[in-house]
Amino acid sequence: MTEQQQSNTPQQVGVGLVGFGTVGTGVWETIQKNGELITGRSNHQFQINIVKAAVRDISKKRIDDAPAELFTADWNDVVNDNSVDIVVELIGGTTTAFDIVAAALKLGKTVVTGNKALLAERGAELFALSQQHNAAIHFEAAVAGGIPIIKAVQDSYVGNDIESMVGIINGTSNYILERMTTAGLAYPEALKEAQELGYAEADPTLDVNGWDAAHKAILLATLAYGSVIDPEEVYVRGIERVTSTDIEFAKNLGYNVKLLSVVHKHEDGKVELRTQPSFIPKSHILSSVNGVFNAVAVKGDASGDALFYGRGAGKEPTASSVVADIVDAAHTISSRAPHRGFLPYSDESNVKKIEDTTTPYYVRFDVTDRPGVVAEIAQILANDGVGISGTHSPVDPENPDKEFVDMVFLLHTCPFGKLKATLKKVLALDSVNSEPVVFRIENL
Ligand code: HSE
Repeated sequence: MTEQQQSNTPQQVGVGLVGFGTVGTGVWETIQKNGELITGRSNHQFQINIVKAAVRDISKKRIDDAPAELFTADWNDVVNDNSVDIVVELIGGTTTAFDIVAAALKLGKTVVTGNKALLAERGAELFALSQQHNAAIHFEAAVAGGIPIIKAVQDSYVGNDIESMVGIINGTSNYILERMTTAGLAYPEALKEAQELGYAEADPTLDVNGWDAAHKAILLATLAYGSVIDPEEVYVRGIERVTSTDIEFAKNLGYNVKLLSVVHKHEDGKVELRTQPSFIPKSHILSSVNGVFNAVAVKGDASGDALFYGRGAGKEPTASSVVADIVDAAHTISSRAPHRGFLPYSDESNVKKIEDTTTPYYVRFDVTDRPGVVAEIAQILANDGVGISGTHSPVDPENPDKEFVDMVFLLHTCPFGKLKATLKKVLALDSVNSEPVVFRIENL
């Protein structure tokens, strides 16, 4: 029994927030509401207090029960405050956020962050500082909002070699694709709707270009396989160029289009790591993940399959994850135990080349419909050993002699590199009018 438990006086653990926007407010409210519960659950070992918060505009009224002296306009006041044991970075971005996190770690303070871009882009430097100064970085809120996937991968699956983690981990893209699928909206309309509902950021670039999801997938792979991953090694495509035409074809063929992130360790030790809009069979459980919800299917060699499903963004769910990290950190601080924040343990990132990854494919060609065009395309595919599992080309009943048509080929599994090389040859045909549209059909 520790001294604290004997005296029954909880240790006061000070938290400093940098950023007091939606999530910061959620963290404040959650601790006000559930603080006693948390203290009790620590067996009265500690009590968590938010003691300082840095904000951009100090004159802005944020929350009724927050005292004015809590706030400062300078993040240095938070990091350097002696009563702050845990620095919570909630401003996003990879520049000032980096300075804040680095400064806190150098002072030996624990960091809690939800900043996936920061850790995926600059994790090597920050984890090195974490190791050097024996100060933990916790980041449950960085991946899938309120779903406790980080703790699951780091702790609950510690006895597994993780075979795969496949998921829908960007709510904004998922919402947009769903609205295009169910309401027939075009991409710009669906994006506008997502922004009006507050799902997409004012600048939704990282949401729709795939990088928000890719950063999260990089963090999951880093946790599972121990090495920091260079984002340059990762294949990422967003949803900006998904058209209603392909959504309709997908529906008719029995699929839904989802922005899917795939982390898959192959038998040779290489890790397939990619994010792109994919065709998912309607019958697969991930196909029914709708709206801004997230889901990650994890397969461990011992655990088998599991599915994590929940809210991937939003004030309370994200605050739930931030508070869980704060409590984890408080346990370490109050028990003076070595921290349990993640540290990389392998130097070899082993990301598989995207050209070597394999799936079946949906390929749509925009062709000039003249005799022999299908044969020409099929001949090139056959010469290169790319198998066709089906073809589809709807005829407009009012204009069966239409000159320009969509010709869809469903192709058997082959390496992506081989497909690309073959499609280049097809594109050289006079009757093929533009770059073919390719979607992976996921074998889940
Ligand atoms: N903007 C993200 C999403 C949540 O739409 O899922 C934060 O990463």
